[in-house]
Amino acid sequence: MPKVAIVYSSGMGRTKKMAEAVAEGVQTVEGVDLVLQSRNEFNIDDVKDADAIALGGGTYSGSLTHAMDTLLQVLKETDLKAKVGAAFGSYGWSGEGVPMLIDHLKEMGLNVIEPGIKAKQTPDREALEACFMLGRALAEGVKG
Ligand SMILES: Cc1cc2nc3c(=O)[nH]c(=O)nc-3n(C[C@H](O)[C@H](O)[C@H](O)COP(=O)(O)O)c2cc1C
Repeated sequence: MPKVAIVYSSGMGRTKKMAEAVAEGVQTVEGVDLVLQSRNEFNIDDVKDADAIALGGGTYSGSLTHAMDTLLQVLKETDLKAKVGAAFGSYGWSGEGVPMLIDHLKEMGLNVIEPGIKAKQTPDREALEACFMLGRALAEGVKG
């Protein structure tokens, strides 16, 4: 079955809310498997066979959290070429996290949907709706 994987890191639960909204969007499309994993739950075996991968991460000190380093390293060591990629995340003022995730995804060879989705602090209804629509689009895309 076609599959969408969502992997995120969220210190304050805001990027997590976005991840859950992406997942809800995926679930509206029948016949598509969903994997939703926080950084702590991350298991490459469940992600490597996904057709689309959405990465979520907040911005911390002008970057992603170091907590994402290992996750990104494992993804980079996996052949993810030609899968579809997308990025989302919450930020406070500068918001480097999402563009950095997009760069990482491109470096891994994924075809990235741009721009990613950024939400200032707690994602509002509009941001969550955008996440939901992203999830639905990813699921419809992988279903073909
Ligand atoms: C220690 C710390 C550093 C932060 N640094 C930045 C930053 O450099 N730029 C920015 O846009 N937001 C920054 N933020 C704000 C967070 O990105 C924002 O609170 C976001 O909502 C966190 O969501 P998440 O933990 O659910 O991903 C920082 C927050 C903290 C606590």
